[in-house]
Amino acid sequence: MADSGAMTLYKPLGLLAELTHRCPLGCPYCSNPLALDKRDDELDTATWMRVFKEAAGLGVLQVHLSGGEPGARRDLPEIAASAREAGLYTNLITSGVGITTRTIRDLWEAGLDHVQISIQDSDAVSSDRIAGYRGAYARKCALAAEVKRLGLPLTINLVVHRANIERIGAMVDLALDLKASRIEIAHVQYYGWALKNRAALMPSADQVARAAAEVEELRARHHGKIVIDAVVPDYHARFPKPCVGGWGRRSLNVTPSGKVLPCHAAEAIPDLEFWNVREHSLADIWASSPAFNAFRGTDFLPEPCASCERREIDFGGCRCQAFLLTGDARATDPVCHLSPDHTRVAELAAVQQDAPYNYRRM
Ligand code: SF4
Ligand code: FES
Repeated sequence: MADSGAMTLYKPLGLLAELTHRCPLGCPYCSNPLALDKRDDELDTATWMRVFKEAAGLGVLQVHLSGGEPGARRDLPEIAASAREAGLYTNLITSGVGITTRTIRDLWEAGLDHVQISIQDSDAVSSDRIAGYRGAYARKCALAAEVKRLGLPLTINLVVHRANIERIGAMVDLALDLKASRIEIAHVQYYGWALKNRAALMPSADQVARAAAEVEELRARHHGKIVIDAVVPDYHARFPKPCVGGWGRRSLNVTPSGKVLPCHAAEAIPDLEFWNVREHSLADIWASSPAFNAFRGTDFLPEPCASCERREIDFGGCRCQAFLLTGDARATDPVCHLSPDHTRVAELAAVQQDAPYNYRRM
């Protein structure tokens, strides 16, 4: 940690490298922005190599190779090798479609440390419908088997919403069958595509309560066999999450075209100025870019956060969600039950949604 004037400047620990926005799947809650970076604008291999060296110099310990689908990049093994050479722990986050047996072997030879595969449901037909890609489920399972054959640690990611929330137990069974050491069960976060499709994705309060109880029971039943990480759905929580560990505090995102964001959804907040790795070093961006300094620390927070003892724990919640629900990115995240805008979230969470789940982006 270094001190830069009045503001404490922490070292970032993690870097999300969004290598491409291209992806063969079409999940209705996709975390890609609504406006995608084009293939022609993607950073080249050499620039990613420089970014990883700069990240390591800045204190970053782990890089997540993500997308879109990172397998859409032919130079993925070279990119992974350069992250490893920079001394970074290297995690691949993949849909499982687009990573061939050859590619995963090349990645393993490049020194890849860990693989996360997203699976949309334990039911193959439903999984393919949610992904919008026939045969995706089988390919995901085949890749998981290959990952384990190579001896790599595996995490299965499940994004939970109304169409699969009743099958969390079956998903944990599937993750065990696939020899995963961890399953990450994350309810949909309502930004970007998921916000557009919120009415179709949102489970009822009863479903959320049952799912939370089931996760506790599954943790006890499978203790020592698999780690079950579960993220409470924002709209049904009492306090907000400390989103990204605090704005400009622990992590950074590099988009396919090189913009550096404090979080993956930050472009939803208008008038933020993002600097690009093509023009600035990562250290310069981390310390001085206007976007990173916009909401650093807690001094900007209004009441009730300003006098709340939790403000150094959750940093007033998520800036993107505060903006999307109140129009003010400095506001207390309305997920917090103390927020003056909480009624809106409570209403959205309490409503039994009646839009059909149509398995498509709308
Ligand atoms: Fe967190 Fe602000 Fe709510 Fe306190 S009032 S719990 S700091 S969001
Ligand atoms: Fe941007 Fe939470 S997603 S701060």
